[in-house]
Amino acid sequence: MSSSTQTAQYNPAYHRFTLFLAICTFLLIVAGALVTSNDAGLAVPDWPTSFGSLYRIPPMVGGIKYEHGHRMLAEFVGLLTIILAVWTQRKEARSWMRKLGWFMLLLVIIQGLLGGLTVKMRLPWYVSTAHAMVAQTFFSLTILMTVFASRRWIGSTVTLTRHPDPGALSFRNLALLTVLAVYMQLFFGAGFRHGGLHFFPHVVGAGIATVILVWASFSGILRFGNIKPIRGASIAILGLLVIQLLLGFGAYMTRVVWGKDAVQPRPSMVATTVAHVAVGALLLAHCFMLAVQAYRNLAPAAELSPADQKAVVA
Ligand code: HEM
Ligand code: HEM
Repeated sequence: MSSSTQTAQYNPAYHRFTLFLAICTFLLIVAGALVTSNDAGLAVPDWPTSFGSLYRIPPMVGGIKYEHGHRMLAEFVGLLTIILAVWTQRKEARSWMRKLGWFMLLLVIIQGLLGGLTVKMRLPWYVSTAHAMVAQTFFSLTILMTVFASRRWIGSTVTLTRHPDPGALSFRNLALLTVLAVYMQLFFGAGFRHGGLHFFPHVVGAGIATVILVWASFSGILRFGNIKPIRGASIAILGLLVIQLLLGFGAYMTRVVWGKDAVQPRPSMVATTVAHVAVGALLLAHCFMLAVQAYRNLAPAAELSPADQKAVVA
């Protein structure tokens, strides 16, 4: 096994695999959101079996299509995560990446257990909300692993110049704050979606989150626009935020205003709520990316060596 002092080597196959896992996880989030929006959480009433069998695929009709489809995709992602964890141990030189590999495996197991638990307990809001939150955390980490395995990240390890990040509220902290703000929205949004919380905290939270995300992305673009990954994440956050706010209004109109007397989930409600969950996941992942890039590319002035400072002035 490689030692932790060895420098990381770019491995295209590994990089492609982490990207594949991230894409599959995104599809799994869409599939999970389809279960909730179609009210299909108990369409398959048992777990870990499905209608008494561990391997037989039930007739994929009605809600079962969503619930069992979600389970099958989740099992596939679980399998990919086992491969990722083992592959990372065998080939990765950075010891923190190897730990992250094991952590991903732990997280996917916890997520599977939460999925089972929410079925066993007949969908209590707090278990479904925890399941929604771990899902997006896991997805964000698959995106981060893809970033850490990229040619740009590994290739710039030696030549990286860190830029000063002065001010009482540093950009690093501001970037962390965006992650917290989106988690807050995820918690309030999922709590409402699963019937445990009022809508009010989510709307107030949307105002607070919007201020923080606009502030962070504007300062990313205006102050650190010359650092490509910070500029890129900032622009993405701004764009996703606009889409997310529009989808939020759409979800509110179709679910709460027009949909409250609907006997069955309407396609317009399913589409807007599922898209709102999915774009929320992309937003969380980009806030994580912004924070990671801020920690990598910036440093409090006191931490910079004179050589770094000169490189910045030049
Ligand atoms: C890697 C594994 C998994 C991921 C990433 C994942 C992700 C998700 C997501 C994003 C949702 C939608 C949450 C929402 O709309 O608020 C969901 C819902 C759900 N998932 Fe999973 N899931 C996984 C594994 C499982 C497993 C193994 C089961 C086993 C039965 C399961 C059962 C459910 C159920 C029943 C719902 C609907 C909950 C409700 O309507 O209250 N999930 N999942
Ligand atoms: C920064 C802005 C926002 C973010 C990050 C955000 C995020 C989220 C997330 C992640 C969920 C679902 C969580 C889950 O179960 O997985 C959710 C649910 C929801 N959000 Fe937002 N949201 C934002 C703004 C808004 C706004 C402005 C509105 C409406 C005015 C809104 C309306 C809703 C509604 C109605 C639901 C529940 C959907 C349902 O019942 O199926 N959101 N939000």
